[in-house]
Amino acid sequence: MHAPFRVFVSSSLPAAAAARLAGSGAIVTTAESDRALADPRFAASPDAYEALVVLLTHPVDAALIARASALRVVSTVSVGVDHIDLAACAARGIVVTHTPGVLTEATADLAFGLLLAAARRIAEGDRIVRAGGFSGWGPSFMVGARVQGATLGLVGLGRIGSAMARRARGFGMKVLYAQRAPLAEAMERALGVRYVTLESLFSESDFVSLHCPLTPATRHLVNRERLASMKHGSVLVNASRGACVDEEALAEALATGPLAAAGLDVFEHEPVVHPALLSRDNAVLTPHIGSAEGATREAMATMAVESVVAVMEGREAPNRVGA
Ligand code: GLV
Repeated sequence: MHAPFRVFVSSSLPAAAAARLAGSGAIVTTAESDRALADPRFAASPDAYEALVVLLTHPVDAALIARASALRVVSTVSVGVDHIDLAACAARGIVVTHTPGVLTEATADLAFGLLLAAARRIAEGDRIVRAGGFSGWGPSFMVGARVQGATLGLVGLGRIGSAMARRARGFGMKVLYAQRAPLAEAMERALGVRYVTLESLFSESDFVSLHCPLTPATRHLVNRERLASMKHGSVLVNASRGACVDEEALAEALATGPLAAAGLDVFEHEPVVHPALLSRDNAVLTPHIGSAEGATREAMATMAVESVVAVMEGREAPNRVGA
């Protein structure tokens, strides 16, 4: 038998995950409604908890970690970990875990959906129809960008990037990728992808899709200069993190070129969306729903809880960040 441990959960979990946590013998405190880490039961005494389960909207910064003196594990119900001060956790020996794998296909589906919607003006067309602006088929009415056979550049070829590459093959696309180091040749062949520099990726692709984590190196990776280097009529897709893109520069590139369109599921200052993007008809905007499928969200929560239980029972944490 392991000693019971105290865990604070910053948002209520799906039933199966909540039951697993309770069944582990943990003493669970769940934040009330949307109070998250500001719930006084946590905020007044963060040192009372050995484990913390958070969402990506709940920052775990160095000041919080300093106050949470008993903390041994932070488990986030997300694959992204940019809301957690990893260095501060490492300095204290706090294990950080996340939920890779289970959201791969859902996120790639959404990203590919954005690619299609932006290229073929699907959301814009829907608005036109609803506003009574459809007066009949016309040869140049709502003409968009061709997807079949086009070149897709993937920034990051991890799990989600690879899932995008597989989808792209079904559309006869040529797939380029850029990241710190190339994959083994056999993997490149299996996925049908070619490694290029970031510069070539931006200048040679008809579609660029971001699948990189947000780090100091990727913040504003898509800046004015990179946007200017993109092909005339190209499309940018982002379902990773909003801050990877300079939104001001993107809005300009959508207004004056070279971009034809963008599909964005993430924003730099969520839930606020840059007003210049809101006013662009050629931007398809979705509210950070990459993993928003019932089964996926349940799997993410269960995975996050399993990681907490493993650490607290002295086992190796599955999905430990940086392992
Ligand atoms: C979603 O953005 C995630 O990081 O899981």
